[in-house]
Amino acid sequence: MKVLILGGTSEASALASALTERSIPALFSYAGRVSAPKPQPLPTRVGGFGGVEGLAAFLADNRITHLVDATHPFAERMSRNAVSAAQRSGIRVIALTRPPWEPMAGDRWERVASVDAAVSALAGPPQRVLLAIGRMHLADFAAQPQHHYLLRLVDRPEAPPPLPHHRVTIDRGPFTLDSDLALLREHGVERLVCKNSGGDGAVSKLTAARQLGLPVVMIERPALPPRQEVHSAAAVLDWLGHNSDPDADLGV
Ligand SMILES: NC(=O)c1ccc[n+]([C@@H]2O[C@H](COP(=O)([O-])OP(=O)(O)OC[C@H]3O[C@@H](n4cnc5c(N)ncnc54)[C@H](OP(=O)(O)O)[C@@H]3O)[C@@H](O)[C@H]2O)c1
Repeated sequence: MKVLILGGTSEASALASALTERSIPALFSYAGRVSAPKPQPLPTRVGGFGGVEGLAAFLADNRITHLVDATHPFAERMSRNAVSAAQRSGIRVIALTRPPWEPMAGDRWERVASVDAAVSALAGPPQRVLLAIGRMHLADFAAQPQHHYLLRLVDRPEAPPPLPHHRVTIDRGPFTLDSDLALLREHGVERLVCKNSGGDGAVSKLTAARQLGLPVVMIERPALPPRQEVHSAAAVLDWLGHNSDPDADLGV
């Protein structure tokens, strides 16, 4: 058995630790998007594979028997490629994801299907908007240049995004309710835009928005091809045929 973990999330890191503790042979893969990715206890490679073909070749060259797609729920291309390459290579694949967030009483969510739809939802008079969507689609919001955008990013962007009024705050989380309440108050935020990433590390902004009565434009997850999907490292261990120790900290 040899496992390849497609990473870039806290779930992937938790799984890497769990496999290491059980001496299950595995490799870890990062896309290489952030300047200082978290070190992993497994042999780690960085960078794209070169599409489905490249990933299929990597799986064969490294004799991978099990592929775990633990990328972010919005890493759509990688997740599609994982399903296709595993099919082509005849190996098993599973997705390790976080359940999406669901609205609670007091939430004022506008749920939209895509970044484009989020941009359209911002039509209207100028507001102070927290844009917590990462850095890939910031330029799309130039179509609504009237707003003042507060951008929360992991790394400082190499070039300023083309948004006439914006400010950048650098923080990779995990975030707390107190710090998110302070951030929203300090910047007078009137509306939030975020992706439905799920998980605990970034949920505090939603709790803070609820407490302050602020509306949220929630970008829902992209649809992916049918695949087996689980929400814990323990479930991946079961899939691998290794019993998980119920007392172990698996980041569940
Ligand atoms: N999208 C988000 O909101 C978000 C948020 C937090 C973390 N992340 C993490 O950031 C990374 C990139 O996300 P993305 O949205 O840019 O992905 P994406 O659009 O689905 O992927 C674009 C390309 O990046 C390469 N890639 C992505 N993940 C990789 C991995 N773990 N190992 C090796 N290559 C990878 C692949 O290149 P090739 O086709 O050349 O193989 C893929 O086709 C992922 O690891 C993801 O977990 C994403």
